[in-house]
Order: sequence, then C-alpha cells, then structure tokens
Amino acid sequence: MDGAAEGRGAAGSADIGAQERVVAEQEWLQRWETGKIGFHKEQRHPLLQKYLDILLNGRSGLRIFFPLCGKAVEMKWLADMGHRVIGVEISEQALKEFFAEHSLPYREEPVPGTSGAKMLQSMSGNISLYCCSIYDLSSAIVGKFDGVWDRGALVAVNPCDRQRYASLMISLMEKSSSYLLVTVLYDPNKHKGPPFYVPESEIKSLYGNQCEIKCLQKVNDFSDRHREWGLDYFLEVLYILKFVP
Ligand SMILES: C[S@@+](CC[C@H](N)C(=O)[O-])C[C@H]1O[C@@H](n2cnc3c(N)ncnc32)[C@H](O)[C@@H]1O
Repeated sequence: MDGAAEGRGAAGSADIGAQERVVAEQEWLQRWETGKIGFHKEQRHPLLQKYLDILLNGRSGLRIFFPLCGKAVEMKWLADMGHRVIGVEISEQALKEFFAEHSLPYREEPVPGTSGAKMLQSMSGNISLYCCSIYDLSSAIVGKFDGVWDRGALVAVNPCDRQRYASLMISLMEKSSSYLLVTVLYDPNKHKGPPFYVPESEIKSLYGNQCEIKCLQKVNDFSDRHREWGLDYFLEVLYILKFVP
C-alpha cells in the first residue's frame, strides 16, 4: 500500500454523518436480478487465505457463519476443509447461483417459526444457507458460531441498523469464538455507500465491550470501480475480534 493511503481513513464523526443513505432490501434484490454485483469476487479473498489460521486457531470442524453471504466462494472452500458453513442472504437467486456454480445438489426446507424464510442445504448437509433477512435469525434458529467471516456484510448494513446488527452478531457467537471482519475506508464525503465507510472507532463502539479487537492489516483495494464513484483512495481493513470467555 502506498504511504499516502496508509495515513488516510481518519475521517471524523461529522464525516460519518454524511452517510445517511438507507438501502432497501428491494434494491439488493434488484442488483442480483440485473447482475449489478460488482462486490462479488470469483477468487477467494486473499485476506481470508492469509489469516485463516487466526480464525481457526488450531480448531477443526467449526461452525462458521457468513452473514449477508451472497454467493461467496469461500463458503465452499471452508466446507471442503471439514467445517460447517452457515450463511444468510435475502436473495434466493444468489443462493441458487452459489449451489449451481459449485455443482452442489441441495434441498429446501422451511424455517419453523419464520414466515417466508427457507433454508437451502447442500445434500451433504455441511452448507446451510438461510434465505431471509439476517434480522429474522436468532441463536434459537441457527445455533451459535465458532467463527465468522464478515466481508461485504457490516459494510453493507445501513448505518442506522449497525447497532442492531452488532448486537445480533454478539448473540450468535460462542464464547472464545473468532470473528474476521473486513471494513472499508474512503472519503465518505465523496461516496454515499454501500459499501459504507466504517472507521475503527465505530468497530470499538459496536464490539469493544464484548471482544478484544485487533487490526491485522490494511490493504489498498483501489480500482477503476472506485474511481468511477469519485474516490481517489479505497482501503480494505481486516480486524480480528476475539470473544472473551
Ligand atoms: C455487498 S454484498 C456482499 C456479499 C458477500 N458477503 C460477498 O462478500 O460477496 C451484500 C449482500 O447482502 C445481502 N443483504 C442485504 N441486506 C440483507 C439482510 N438484511 N439480510 C440478509 N442479506 C442481506 C444482499 O443481497 C447482498 O448479497
């Protein structure tokens, strides 16, 4: 990463207030229908590959959660390693594309007590993807998780819903679990999101009471897509959140 970008991303709370946009669920569904899914990556995320050992911490057979999962290719990768993968996504199209693109047969089941929600589960049983809003989930429905890969999730949550999202995530985590969180930094006065700008102060305010938080790496992720948004820098920041017993 260039040195200039390294020093950026320190916008104050007044700047965060610039991001008041609320994205309706319908807008996300339309993105999937019209193929406007520039957030989707065909390759595994390099930061997950690099820091996987920190997430797993020597453990095997974990329950790993992918909030707002889209059709993230890392779900298949982790399932193939012997972990159980649980995701949630409002777009049924995204979930069906996931199973089709990995040639995975699946079954559909209703989710008891959650009207309209269903679970799409690989026939082998190790990938269970809930088709509903994340806010419809609870530990009574999905159990608790040993690990989380949160990429394109907290940063896609409307800023006004962040506290609710973080409280739900905390309620879904096992004691001593690990949560890899990817946030983004850019000038929030130049782009209204999503992805929304989430500074470290916000992570501390959302999770600091429950977790130890450590920034693992900042990477320059600037591309033509970000230039078209009017930005001149765009950073991805990876944190590890450790839930203390
Ligand atoms: C930026 S995309 C990221 C997808 C995925 N995490 C990835 O890295 O490719 C955000 C996803 O969240 C989904 N989504 C938005 N609001 C949601 C909600 N309340 N509950 C579940 N999924 C939601 C959208 O349909 C979209 O696929």
